[in-house]
Amino acid sequence: MPATCVVGLQWGDEAKGKIVDILTEKHDVVVRYQGGANAGHTVVFDGKKFKLSLIPSGIFRSQVPCLITGGVVLNPASFITEIEGLQKEGVSCENLRISDRAHVIMPWHFEEDRLMNRTTTGEDIGTTQRGIGPCYRDKVGRSWAIRMGDLYTEAFAERIYSLCAVKNKILYGMDPAGGESRLDAEKIVSDYLNYAQRLRPMVTDTTAYLLDALDENKKILFEGAQGALLDIDHGTFPYVTSSNSSGVGVCNGSGVAPRHITKLIGIIKAYTTRVGGGPFPTELDNEIGQHIRDEGNEYGTVTKRPRRCGWFDAVAARYTARLSGASVLSVMLLDVLSKLPEISICTEYEIDGVRTRNFPSQVDDLRKVKPIFITVPGWQQDITGARRWEDLPENARAYVQLLGKLIGTPVEIVSVGPDRQQTIFVDSSSL
Ligand code: GDP
Ligand code: IMO
Ligand code: MG
Repeated sequence: MPATCVVGLQWGDEAKGKIVDILTEKHDVVVRYQGGANAGHTVVFDGKKFKLSLIPSGIFRSQVPCLITGGVVLNPASFITEIEGLQKEGVSCENLRISDRAHVIMPWHFEEDRLMNRTTTGEDIGTTQRGIGPCYRDKVGRSWAIRMGDLYTEAFAERIYSLCAVKNKILYGMDPAGGESRLDAEKIVSDYLNYAQRLRPMVTDTTAYLLDALDENKKILFEGAQGALLDIDHGTFPYVTSSNSSGVGVCNGSGVAPRHITKLIGIIKAYTTRVGGGPFPTELDNEIGQHIRDEGNEYGTVTKRPRRCGWFDAVAARYTARLSGASVLSVMLLDVLSKLPEISICTEYEIDGVRTRNFPSQVDDLRKVKPIFITVPGWQQDITGARRWEDLPENARAYVQLLGKLIGTPVEIVSVGPDRQQTIFVDSSSL
């Protein structure tokens, strides 16, 4: 019956993985429903740090099944490497299931990602180069798509041969320097049949699995990847990812209807970060931005790129919380701001001299934004040992409360460090 979703409300890396890992204990199934190996989710406990990409962050509770549904684009090679890495660390992946509807990332998708990383205006999207956009493009285009279930059909090899013929022509047209027949169909067939055999026990109809789980009143936890501002339909297009990474994507990615979703936890950092191209109104391209990057270790989990850092943008977060249907918030990485004497929050945008609390639909308007800030005093003390709301200094509590007020959604969780233990569950009566 109850389904809870964990969704990032900024541009990704809000520490969704940490919250999913913690909440898995109270759920019966964990579900990754969109994105692919562009995601990098970090889970820390018992002094160990795990980085996950395709595998749901619930994997550390071996009794809880982890599903990867049809909305995900799956690179079998990196998926197998990820499983093997976890197994080496003693993590059981027995309970992992992948949808036969999930689309498969093929070697040409990487080439296409490399060659088509630009928007029509010529600026880099700055993709993770994991073949995500091209694979989703082929999914929507239908003719050139391969799904997990296709790997087990007799026609698979034949399809790869004809697809390689088409894709070789396209790639040559885009980049003649790469040669006329860079895709080796025979090798691709052999590699992918090997992956298919290895993954066979995990491949199933996850939609049917989830619908049965709902009938049985199982508690389902949905793990979003990326963040709502990267949503293909509602984000800062074209500087977005190719899936519905806001709350609206849970249903189409998983096959679970909206009426089952009872709670949506919007995950926010206490400040803002972004990796890749595109406008970022509150960006701090100065020593404060560098301070936040250093304190928060803000370097990409997947690509290691330095993350762009800035003040908390309440206009953007209010938009994505409403868009995603956030019922509560989880404020992450609060400790990163601990040394700052003053902290700013963007509460309004000024566009062409007009003040607004609405997030613009056009990226050119977002580029014009003059952020209007309020500045509040910092707390300037270490909070990484805080475990209860009352343990936080008054200014830190006031800051968290202000974020909730500006977004219009109550704060339920506050995180003061990467470890599972460094998490405060806020009793609403204490706010
Ligand atoms: P995700 O993609 O949303 O799961 O987030 P990432 O794992 O890419 O990035 C979040 C980073 O912040 C990871 O390195 C986490 O270990 C770390 N982290 C999570 N919560 C906290 C916190 O409260 N404080 C600090 N300092 N680091 C945190
Ligand atoms: P998690 O799940 C942060 C960004 C890329 C690029 C844009 C498009 O860890 O929060 P893509 O490879 O998806 O076509 O790249 O989206 N991006 C992310 N940024 N966190 C992520 O995932 C991201 N996944 C994609 O940097 O700007
Ligand atoms: Mg990440």
